[in-house]
Amino acid sequence: MKVTICIGSACHLKGSREIIKEMQELVAANGVKDKVDLNGAFCSGNCVKEGVCVTVDGTLHSLKPEDCGEFFNKEILGRL
Ligand code: FES
Repeated sequence: MKVTICIGSACHLKGSREIIKEMQELVAANGVKDKVDLNGAFCSGNCVKEGVCVTVDGTLHSLKPEDCGEFFNKEILGRL
């Protein structure tokens, strides 16, 4: 599964670094390193969304740092 987190300037301000860190920890803690491919990406033109742009296998989501845990369980672990 390919997970891409936007590190463009607008998303950066909304906490993309925090999200990347948290995702890395969650992937490691759940032992799914070989199944989840975490990537950074530049602005995809979706800055107007409320949160940081995160795509999971091409599907765009808007994520706030505080929602990372829930998102991970539902959209990542739940789909593996
Ligand atoms: S900076 Fe993330 S979509 Fe533009």
